[in-house]
Amino acid sequence: MYQPVQLSEDIFYVGVNDRRTELFENMWPLPRGVAYNSYVIKDEKIALLDTVEIGQVEKFLKKLQSVIGDRPIDYLIVNHMEPDHAGSVNLIRQLYPDVKIVGNKKTLPMIEGFFEITDNLMEVKEGDELDLGKHKLQFYLAPMVHWPETMVTYEETQKILFSADAFGSFGTLDGSIFDDEMDFSYFHDEMRRYYSNIVGKYGSPVQKALKKLSGLDIKMIASTHGPIIRSHIEEVIGMYDDWSSFKTGEGVVIAFASMYGNTEEMAEVTARAIAEAGIKEIRMYDVSKTHSSYIISDIFKYKGLVLASPTYSNELHPNMEALANKLKHMGVKDHCLGILGSYTWAGTSVKRLTELGEALKWEIIENSVEEKHTLKKQKYEECRRLGKALAEKLIAERN
Ligand code: FEO
Repeated sequence: MYQPVQLSEDIFYVGVNDRRTELFENMWPLPRGVAYNSYVIKDEKIALLDTVEIGQVEKFLKKLQSVIGDRPIDYLIVNHMEPDHAGSVNLIRQLYPDVKIVGNKKTLPMIEGFFEITDNLMEVKEGDELDLGKHKLQFYLAPMVHWPETMVTYEETQKILFSADAFGSFGTLDGSIFDDEMDFSYFHDEMRRYYSNIVGKYGSPVQKALKKLSGLDIKMIASTHGPIIRSHIEEVIGMYDDWSSFKTGEGVVIAFASMYGNTEEMAEVTARAIAEAGIKEIRMYDVSKTHSSYIISDIFKYKGLVLASPTYSNELHPNMEALANKLKHMGVKDHCLGILGSYTWAGTSVKRLTELGEALKWEIIENSVEEKHTLKKQKYEECRRLGKALAEKLIAERN
């Protein structure tokens, strides 16, 4: 038995929670799990919007069948092909052999590639409409939010945007499914961690998608992850607008690598100077302890950044190098960077971090600090000056 969750009279949530998977995409930690959301519209025709990751299919089918009973599914709308959503497409086709699989011209070759399904496919184009009876669906392409084939589906009668990954979040839906059934702020950090790490590289396509969707009257956003949003629509669209345009707030992330504490001490001294200068939001992370997804999420939140690394075998500390590579790969924009480094016999880390800041066109605070062996008086004062200069730069941008 399953008590259906209704978005409206004929539209149902049939998603599932995954509290067992440790790493999303086998990379991103899931301390709070993740939800794979799927929806079904029960009209003259039945449409299923996306499926779930195959490991969760049993719970999903139970929910789906409690809503539709013995009726067949007429359409399976595939908004996004990543297997956390399309993982059960093949099984749905086996259970409902007449189901028409709906996607765009980039979806359908993926359907063939992943599942060898070549028949009973329906290609839709930008703005096309699918009539289910009372409910009509419109399709809008949203390439690179998160894959090239990603599209969103707009249900005209209830004004629901089925947004695929967009506006999604890590974290399971613990009884509360809708944003106004919970303390929605609980999801803010996981929403930003999801966006920044999964979609963050594609800020420009997200901006294009937001512009395209700005003409729609949206009363509900039903993403494939996280809460269904009906009371914070403007807020989440604003959050996405900020993140995708790399708009950040006043604050500093200090990410350091340190083998024996010398580089960490430089970071501590710099942090104190930043605080004394009046910056209240300071987040300090040891890159060897905190997964980069949390650090990157905060880098998307705050304009200031201090990167500190010892030189390790004539390069950056490997864990700092991994963070630096991710930031470069994502093309993170518009930050103020302070650089700290230490070494024992030859210094390279400051050079490498400077190259990173230049490659990303960040504003680099003058006079990066590089210390040999332990932190001594002169470099101690230089760390303080660097912290103060970074803080003053951020404070000058207030208002
Ligand atoms: Fe939630 Fe890009 O898959």
